[in-house]
Amino acid sequence: MRKMLSCAICTIAMMSLLSVHLHKFPHHSKLSDPYRLPNPQIEIRDKILGKEQEQRWTREFIPPNVSLGPLSSQQFPVWRPNCPILWKPVTNRDYMPCTHPTPNYTAPPEPRGYLLAHTNGGLNQMRAGICDMVAIARIINATLVVPELDKKSYWQDSSNFSDVFNEDHFINVLANDVKVIKKLPKEMGGAPIAIKYFKSWSGMDYYQEEISSMWADYKVIQAGKTDSRLANNNLPADIQKLRCRACYEALCFAPQIEAMGKLLVDRMRSYGTYIALHLRYEKDILAFTGCTHGLSSAEADELKEIRDSNDKWKVKDIDPREQRSKGFCPLTPKEAAIFLSALGYPSNTPIYIAAGDIYGGDSYMGDLRSRYPMLMSKVRVSNALL
Ligand SMILES: *[C@@H]1O[C@H](CO)[C@@H](O)[C@H](O)[C@H]1NC(C)=O
Ligand SMILES: *[C@@H]1O[C@H](CO)[C@@H](O)[C@H](O)[C@H]1NC(C)=O
Ligand SMILES: *[C@@H]1O[C@H](CO)[C@@H](O)[C@H](O)[C@H]1NC(C)=O
Ligand SMILES: *[C@@H]1O[C@H](CO)[C@@H](O)[C@H](O)[C@H]1NC(C)=O
Repeated sequence: MRKMLSCAICTIAMMSLLSVHLHKFPHHSKLSDPYRLPNPQIEIRDKILGKEQEQRWTREFIPPNVSLGPLSSQQFPVWRPNCPILWKPVTNRDYMPCTHPTPNYTAPPEPRGYLLAHTNGGLNQMRAGICDMVAIARIINATLVVPELDKKSYWQDSSNFSDVFNEDHFINVLANDVKVIKKLPKEMGGAPIAIKYFKSWSGMDYYQEEISSMWADYKVIQAGKTDSRLANNNLPADIQKLRCRACYEALCFAPQIEAMGKLLVDRMRSYGTYIALHLRYEKDILAFTGCTHGLSSAEADELKEIRDSNDKWKVKDIDPREQRSKGFCPLTPKEAAIFLSALGYPSNTPIYIAAGDIYGGDSYMGDLRSRYPMLMSKVRVSNALL
């Protein structure tokens, strides 16, 4: 009986390894992909806590089903923290939402031309850049064309703005601030475009004078990059507030992404109070920072090759020890585990890994998993049949 059981466990483990591989989302998948996955061949319902390892593996078989909500918490042994101080909400340090315009704010004036924006970087960098472009369009009295997302960054994500963000909502919320349109009008098709890399961290004067003076010769200005183009300080209150309005009210995820996000959160909550860990131990950041602590020389070579082949990363020769001693390296999965333990989080704390593929896969994640077995990835949680 025992033998049969371990045999079954082995088989399930091996099949699940294969199936993890097959069911993994493609790196640049849009979130609608899960809808297209085939029906489950095997349906195994399991209880999440206090069960054997093999049952956790089996959850990888089940394709995500967004219409499936989380089970009510009564059906699960929900983990409750026994040390409430660790879970206290952080104080707001007197910061508060500040998105309403001042009484002096006026409707947008007649636009002088069009602002196109090519964003750059990862999603968060693009998001911040888009908010800045809204503020800049207001400063220079431009009609903003919905920004283009970066498709050439490390992530090679081909998604368009409307795949990621709710485009109509973005346009409508900003109606009293900046005119936003989806595409440059046809009649502007042949117009010359001034492609300009705005100076980083520029203030009002730069945009009101240097950039606005381009309207004399051009009807269309294109921002070649969008990250960190606008100063953080000494902007008029209404420009800063507009930036916040763009970021926190206008820019929302597209409905299918909202739905998927809500599903993941609901499912994680059904495990109890959990930690979302942005474990940035990913190939690109290790290649970029040259952090190779604890890696094999083959892995270090692989990372160096990636760095050398990326033209955008200017620093090529990096001393990994020096980087690490200066604190410039991401925590390894093992260090993250030690850190969380030291803070007092018990080993039954569920952890959601908010990151892409962790470098080295389970060879390094094993160090975190051995301390915190309730380790969940987006693939695992979206595939879980709760
Ligand atoms: C998704 O779940 C719903 C509700 O349980 C079920 O009716 C439906 O058949 C499922 N769809 C797929 C593709 O499994
Ligand atoms: C509104 O405009 C008036 C007159 O220009 C100015 O004195 C006042 O400080 C402005 N108020 C705000 C909140 O900016
Ligand atoms: C934008 O329009 C307003 C109102 O017409 C005007 O006062 C301001 O000078 C314009 N700014 C630029 C940079 O064109
Ligand atoms: C993005 O838009 C372009 C142009 O409309 C289109 O060719 C492309 O297929 C779109 N990308 C995705 C991922 O839908």
